[in-house]
Amino acid sequence: MTRTSPFHRPVTKAVLPAAGLGTRFLPATKATPKEMLPIVDKPAIQYVVEEAAAAGLGDMLVITGRNKRPLEDHFDRNFELEQALVSKGDRERLAKVQESNGLATLHYVRQGDPRGLGHAVLCAAPHVGDEPFAVLLGDDLIDPRDPLLTRMMDIQQREGGSVVALMEVEPSQIHLYGCAAVQSTAHPDVVRVTGLVEKPDPADAPSNYAVIGRYVLDPAVFDVLRETRPGRGGEIQLTDALERLATGEALGGPVHGVVFKGRRYDTGDRGDYLRAIVQLACEREDLGPQFRAWLGRYAAETGLSALA
Ligand code: UTP
Repeated sequence: MTRTSPFHRPVTKAVLPAAGLGTRFLPATKATPKEMLPIVDKPAIQYVVEEAAAAGLGDMLVITGRNKRPLEDHFDRNFELEQALVSKGDRERLAKVQESNGLATLHYVRQGDPRGLGHAVLCAAPHVGDEPFAVLLGDDLIDPRDPLLTRMMDIQQREGGSVVALMEVEPSQIHLYGCAAVQSTAHPDVVRVTGLVEKPDPADAPSNYAVIGRYVLDPAVFDVLRETRPGRGGEIQLTDALERLATGEALGGPVHGVVFKGRRYDTGDRGDYLRAIVQLACEREDLGPQFRAWLGRYAAETGLSALA
């Protein structure tokens, strides 16, 4: 099926895939989605919902998996808990409990079988319809002080087609990501994507630009995803569908990339998860001073500071 690119339509909807198995984080993710693991005192996905809301996207669709209950409950009211805190007069904690209810209108759709990120995004087709939309991976945390999504939405509105977020990584790490072949543009932070490959061997990687978990997509991607066969790891890869849009093999391009240089954590990776917690805890006004003092003592006592 062909269609004209509706790039002048504003982006109003966000899709948050959170149906992955989270095998890198077992056993913690046996009965809990990895997106619900706390980063200091908030589940990872709440940071992502806050980011989408801050970019003006008030309509969000969460793609859930087998353990969807905790996700739905977190963004819903909890009358018993709220009542208990009211009775105690604990306004501060009451505000924390209520914070996640009013962020956005959240919808949920279940991805019966976790057949890959491309398949998860395709589950959003009936909700999204024929307009460009944002995708924010529920386990990928972008520091709110380093805005990325609004810049991507601006580029999408100006250029049409789709926009991916890219980050330069060590060549030895590129096999962990989707990788983009790129051409420069007049804007230093924007590139034209000419090809994409999922988790390439470093020797075959066309660049060290890694695709990270933010996308602004043309709805033409749904038609391409319907035809996309399982790729790397036996999963239906979003990267494979975007490759066809980037090369012009399918209608709905172009694909641009916004190069991100800010702070980002893959909270589905144990090492990055720990770094996110330590860094965000150090920077928190309430916890930071005491935590930093302890961390400094710990580093000195264990000889860690000498290794830095
Ligand atoms: P990952 O590549 O991190 O895969 O997914 P995963 O299966 O969740 O985790 P590991 O590798 O086994 O530890 C990236 C994002 O895509 C979502 C995940 O929830 C995560 O937000 N996803 C992935 C889906 O929603 N459905 C899928 O079928 C696969």
